[in-house]
Amino acid sequence: MKMRSQYAWIKWCMEAVLAAMAVLPTAANPAVPSAPEPKDVPELMTTFKGEKVTTREQWEKVRAPELLAEFTREEYGRRPVERPKTLSFAAAEPDAVMMDGKAIRKRVRVSYGGKYGTNEFTFTAFIPRQEQPAPAFILICNRSAAENIDPTREKKSDFWPAEQIVARGYAAIAFWNGDIAPDCNRGLSEGVFAVFGDTSRPDRPKDAWGVLSAWAWGASRVMDWIETEPLLDAKHVAVVGHSRGGKTALVAGVYDKRFAMACSNDSGCSGAKLNHIDLPRSEHLADIVTTFPYWFCRNYVRHVNAEKSWRVDQHEFVALIAPRLVCIASATGDAWAGPEGEYASGALASPAWELYGKKGLVSNGFPPPETPLQEGCISYHLRTGKHNLTPYDWKVYMDFADRHGWRK
Ligand code: GCU
Repeated sequence: MKMRSQYAWIKWCMEAVLAAMAVLPTAANPAVPSAPEPKDVPELMTTFKGEKVTTREQWEKVRAPELLAEFTREEYGRRPVERPKTLSFAAAEPDAVMMDGKAIRKRVRVSYGGKYGTNEFTFTAFIPRQEQPAPAFILICNRSAAENIDPTREKKSDFWPAEQIVARGYAAIAFWNGDIAPDCNRGLSEGVFAVFGDTSRPDRPKDAWGVLSAWAWGASRVMDWIETEPLLDAKHVAVVGHSRGGKTALVAGVYDKRFAMACSNDSGCSGAKLNHIDLPRSEHLADIVTTFPYWFCRNYVRHVNAEKSWRVDQHEFVALIAPRLVCIASATGDAWAGPEGEYASGALASPAWELYGKKGLVSNGFPPPETPLQEGCISYHLRTGKHNLTPYDWKVYMDFADRHGWRK
């Protein structure tokens, strides 16, 4: 009898240990981060004057323009130019059939000029060889171009699985952000900035554009070319970016309505991450404007350590993409980007889609990893792993486009 109760005790202890192991984070079982509740979030559907927004007309005439003006003046900055009159396209190399005959590669040189000079950048497009015009994904590449977007395909990178994208019937297009403006303080006086005005001086206008907006401007110029290319379906083009590129993809989607989808991968602070949520391990404005002041307009510093008393938050930036499609992605091992805050922005942006009779993010709460939420017009997924853009993320984005009938 005594022996039996001893065994029962040992068995109980072992079960307790095993149960604890199942909920504790281990390499094999990464924790689903617990989701803190957002607090005192600025109300998306109330104007700055305190009026409730209940119709699409009020949204389009009053609320969306005032939000856009606020984000432009306070965060991303005002652009001196959209499509320059001098913009032109030329083949940088002859077209080539590649990927075992499955794709046509085009290398396009984009040239432009402004008051202070001229400049150019070249991008690559792999277009599936098929009867009908192909929908497309444009990557704003913020990593080494040679390693990640090699036009020869001698170097292949999971960051831009162009073969996988083409195999699914989508054109894979990529440009390097550094070709638009270098990713450093000096960026403000080079690339596109050097052509349209020097913004590097310390007294540059406080609302003049920063580098994120310039990179997004580059994506729009690629879109200008897509509209001229009969092999492509300009009505179904997604802009994709990771991290700083993910912030940029949102900027591109907000400022250019021709993008039918914006995919913001691990974009974090000043991207999809909500500020009104307590995520102490995530990046805050104080961090980002110290290290990357040139990404933003000068006014942004006013909100450092005061983001919770600012009258807008990033869910309202995401909402400016409605009624088009948005993908927000996070990774379990990416506390710096704040996955729960990225998710919260999608959830809180959703009423903008509802004004159009659509659904935003359809969810029952912060999801476990590898469970994409794709029922509405906002896709959210949490991926197991590190801060990165992977073939799995690309698969989720393409599944979402498929779901919305992008491949006829
Ligand atoms: C830094 C920065 C982030 C950014 C990231 C990236 O970590 O703090 O805001 O998203 O770089 O672009 O990889």
